[in-house]
Amino acid sequence: MRLILLGPPGAGKGTQGHRLHEAYGIPEISTGDILRVAVRNETSLGLEAKTYMDRGALVPDEVIIGIARERLAEADTEPGFILDGFPRTVAQAEALDQMLLESQRPLDHVISIEVPEEELLQRLANRREIEGREDDSDDAIRHRLEVYQRQTAPLIDYYRKTGLLRPVPGVGTVDDIAQHITSVL
Ligand code: AP5
Repeated sequence: MRLILLGPPGAGKGTQGHRLHEAYGIPEISTGDILRVAVRNETSLGLEAKTYMDRGALVPDEVIIGIARERLAEADTEPGFILDGFPRTVAQAEALDQMLLESQRPLDHVISIEVPEEELLQRLANRREIEGREDDSDDAIRHRLEVYQRQTAPLIDYYRKTGLLRPVPGVGTVDDIAQHITSVL
């Protein structure tokens, strides 16, 4: 099974991605998590990425596409994968299409998790208190939501046209939402 989890910041992509990983035993590939590890380890990728991430901007497409290409070439993705936070721009989606075409691994579903903005703001503010993620500051959250609308939301149409888009309501308990996703799959 090859899936994309699409949704705005705070929609629950990571939360549901972990659930799907546990349920189906396929890797969850989060570009945000890969970047946060690089930032923690102060690698050259991490040092570059941090300048974008802390203010809620996207890391340049060529950097992210390179990361995704490398990760998708690993053997554990052979039975399938769950992409969380990638693609996030039309250029990334086109690059992914090309990678999957080359490896003859078509996508099965694009799960679009739909959550109203007030709920997103509430969730990210709660997480700031608990985890202290740098990009959960008020300014960065605002910017992440703007960037989502401008650069990532067009992917909803992109995947609708392919017939792969599966909208799922993202409000309710984590279990409820997991159930909605499972019923789509
Ligand atoms: P990334 O880590 O992908 O952040 P994001 O998309 O902003 O997503 P979040 O992690 O904030 O939210 P989520 O949808 O995963 O929700 P979660 O499950 O965590 O990216 C971070 C940065 O990295 C980007 O800004 C960019 O700079 C860079 N980057 C990453 N990928 C990139 C790419 N492809 N291109 C360019 N740059 C890229 O849940 C959020 C909170 O809500 C949690 O506290 C959770 O416990 C809670 N929650 C979850 N579900 C529920 C529920 N049902 N009810 C109540 N609370 C809930």
